[in-house]
Amino acid sequence: MKPFLSLAGFCYLSATQGLAYSVDARYHNAGPVPDACSDGPAAGQFPSEITPLRPRQDLDIRAAAKAAIDALNNKFYSPAQAIWSPGDPWWLSGVALTSVIDYMRKTGSRDYMDQIESIIQVQRTQWSQDGADFRAESTDDTGWWALAMIRMYDLTGDSTYLNISIEDEAYMYKYWTSSPCGGGIYVDIKAKTYKNAIANELYIKLAASLHNRIANDTRYLSRAETAWSWFQNSGMINQSDNLINDGLASSSSGACSNNKLPVWTYNQGVILGALAELFRATNSETYLTSARSIADAVLSTTTTPQLTNPNTGTLTEASCKQPDEGCNHDQQVFKGVFAYSLAELDGAVSDHGGGHPYVSYIRQNAQSAYANARGEGTDLYDVSWAGPFLNSTVGKQASAVGLLIAGI
Ligand SMILES: *[C@@H]1O[C@H](CO)[C@@H](O)[C@H](O)[C@H]1NC(C)=O
Ligand SMILES: *[C@@H]1O[C@H](CO)[C@@H](O)[C@H](O)[C@H]1NC(C)=O
Ligand SMILES: *[C@@H]1O[C@H](CO)[C@@H](O)[C@H](O)[C@H]1NC(C)=O
Ligand SMILES: *[C@@H]1O[C@H](CO)[C@@H](O)[C@H](O)[C@H]1NC(C)=O
Repeated sequence: MKPFLSLAGFCYLSATQGLAYSVDARYHNAGPVPDACSDGPAAGQFPSEITPLRPRQDLDIRAAAKAAIDALNNKFYSPAQAIWSPGDPWWLSGVALTSVIDYMRKTGSRDYMDQIESIIQVQRTQWSQDGADFRAESTDDTGWWALAMIRMYDLTGDSTYLNISIEDEAYMYKYWTSSPCGGGIYVDIKAKTYKNAIANELYIKLAASLHNRIANDTRYLSRAETAWSWFQNSGMINQSDNLINDGLASSSSGACSNNKLPVWTYNQGVILGALAELFRATNSETYLTSARSIADAVLSTTTTPQLTNPNTGTLTEASCKQPDEGCNHDQQVFKGVFAYSLAELDGAVSDHGGGHPYVSYIRQNAQSAYANARGEGTDLYDVSWAGPFLNSTVGKQASAVGLLIAGI
């Protein structure tokens, strides 16, 4: 068992947790993010001529994160239903929950504790047939909420939350089969037709996280290592560009191959947090090397410019460029999941003496979003972190919250 929190030099903490989901039109769901650090003037007017880069003291990222959480709550939270609205996709509130918990973990604030407890109380059996926790239609739904419970355990030390995530791991693991594809977890619980990236990334992160929080564990580490080893060789990671596609196509022989569905940002993200947890569990550098090859592919503006816009330096979702352009609620939150997961990797690299290779990218994105994608006077955010701001949704806002918390 290794300590989870990494306090890096100045104000950056390793962030954490992930959640998110994919999109083969059949399934949807997603996760949360982290915040930034406090220095410089309070969040306020950001001169427009400085897009996108400014010295970090120009943005009080901690204040910006809090303002974005408050806007998320004012605009989208339904106290009566204890969920951010719309409540479908459900995973999206799991992601937002993770981010709000992470904000409190990183800042020491307890401002949202009552709200968080109420969400957990109501949502844990919301779609459950049998009273079990965080069950819905697909295994990734459970994965997002289970990772939020890991974060809640980190925040409170209350084993109630750890026990929920233990129960959820057992549930997800029931959907692991050796055939087809030589392993992997199905995402679609009823039909059992699709082994995809997000369900498996969430599972690896959950199992590795449990190992790091349960003394003398061997079971969860073994499962996490087996699942990663399978994932790495499954065909979902494109060997030419190190990016992860949506999932696997299976043939009648049981052999599987990359299904060539889109390279979503959250699929490049959750695995970074999973590998950071595996690194903490084993101290084996190989996990960091694998994670960095994926992260660096996303950040590259030359070899894979589809994910980081070479003109603005901002993370982009292929289908979510300008205002809404066919980008659904699930897809709107993906980038935030990548951002907080990248911060988790950054913390693990730092623990290994590798400095903070990803902090400047996170801050550059946060600065750009704050300057260009934020509604004047509302602290609501639109989908493109290069701007402009036209309107917001729960997915867009939760994504920005994830980014800002990643920068704390
Ligand atoms: C969590 O599970 C452990 C092991 O079964 C048990 O000892 C502990 O009391 C549980 N925690 C709570 C709050 O129920
Ligand atoms: C873990 O293993 C050590 C060494 O065998 C033992 O002293 C300790 O009690 C164990 N802890 C738990 C929680 O089982
Ligand atoms: C893998 O990457 C190469 C190089 O970027 C690209 O040409 C190819 O289409 C990618 N394959 C898939 C399945 O996305
Ligand atoms: C936001 O603006 C875009 C572009 O004008 C529009 O297509 C979309 O419906 C708007 N969304 C909301 C939630 O108002």
